[in-house]
Amino acid sequence: MNSYLQASDFFKGNDPEKIAAKYGTPLYVYSEEVIRQHMEAVGKVITKYDYTANYSVKANTNLEILKLALSEGINCDAMSMGELMMLKKAGFPSDRIFFVPNNVADEEFEYAIDNDIIVSLDSLSQLEKYGQLVGRKGKGHECAVRINPGVGAGHSEKVITGGKKTKFGIAEADIPKIYEVINKYGLKLIGINQHIGSQFLDPQPYLDAVENLLRIARDFKGLKFIDFGGGYGIPYHKLDDEANYPMEDFKTRLQPILDAFVADYGYAPMFKSEPGRFCVAEGGIILGRVNAIKENSGRTYVGTDVGMNTLIRPAMYDSYHDVEVIREGKVVPREDMSEVNISGQICESGDLIVKDRMLPNIEEGDLVAILDAGAYGYAMASTYNTRPRPAEVMVCLDGNVKLIRRRETYEDLMSLF
Ligand code: LLP
Repeated sequence: MNSYLQASDFFKGNDPEKIAAKYGTPLYVYSEEVIRQHMEAVGKVITKYDYTANYSVKANTNLEILKLALSEGINCDAMSMGELMMLKKAGFPSDRIFFVPNNVADEEFEYAIDNDIIVSLDSLSQLEKYGQLVGRKGKGHECAVRINPGVGAGHSEKVITGGKKTKFGIAEADIPKIYEVINKYGLKLIGINQHIGSQFLDPQPYLDAVENLLRIARDFKGLKFIDFGGGYGIPYHKLDDEANYPMEDFKTRLQPILDAFVADYGYAPMFKSEPGRFCVAEGGIILGRVNAIKENSGRTYVGTDVGMNTLIRPAMYDSYHDVEVIREGKVVPREDMSEVNISGQICESGDLIVKDRMLPNIEEGDLVAILDAGAYGYAMASTYNTRPRPAEVMVCLDGNVKLIRRRETYEDLMSLF
């Protein structure tokens, strides 16, 4: 593919140069259309049985994006009280929110219990803590537990959340102890969940993990739901024609696994999945401005205002993001290529968005568009080097460009003192 921005009509006829001039750079730009398409697709992973996709909001908690999930009819999962609060602010009713926290104190459980939000407990000690709290509050008896599936998958060891080397979930061997705690506090176990990891394009490990969780589920009686977790990948190498996650093939292979379980279990509990990245990654890009170009010992450095403070994934996981170059509002064709590094403004050698990559010739004043930045982009952005975080705009279905989060100001940063 020569240009994703053109192929997807990302800007819907708007001139990206005008958007950048109006809102400044670096700038997160989202496509309502692309995000809605992906949210719609995850909502249809299972059609034969009661099913909901929970958009995993840690990927992107912008209020307007949460509202897209609300209107697409998918539910959400949250990892923190902050995410729960954002969901309430976006208008989500409690029964469309699933809280899957890790190592939290009473305050966060209390918020969930007070708001009638179902919680999944990630360890026996959290289950104890939760049980004590339910005893004191006299509500919140229904809960879920997170099982460590024993297997994991993902693009980096840092994002594999199943298996022996992670902090997540309760090991299968400890299931009898789950029942001890449940019985001690009069809790009612209504669901189990898992998450094997993030960004896989081969569905096989996920299907294996589904089978495994359903095997374990047979030991839990009376479940109302079983949640298989997220992780569906997106093609980060799309300009090199990397294939999409094979959603149709995945669905076809998932169906008999579910059928076999339902036949055994006697009924179909609600099935859930928790996709984050798949919903939003491809619907977001970052526009950055080229401020300087230099040669250092034979290597070319394109100095932009997009660094590890704006998008930390390349520095943190060595992640690859495709880049398109925009000059005078037009995508520069992928010809006359030369090898460059693209860096930001941060005082670290690791502040590179692109390493040793062939890109069309870049000139000072050009815009760079960093693709697939809608997930774990702004959500992981920081104010490192005391740089305010960028603004976010959405290209709406009707082509209007809407500011959906203002740029942070220096006053915002000072106001904490
Ligand atoms: N459910 C749970 C319990 C999770 O921990 C996660 C992601 C998800 C769902 C959603 O996974 P997804 O569908 O987005 O793969 N910052 C990393 C990704 C970390 C994912 C953490 N957990 C990155 O930028 O690649």
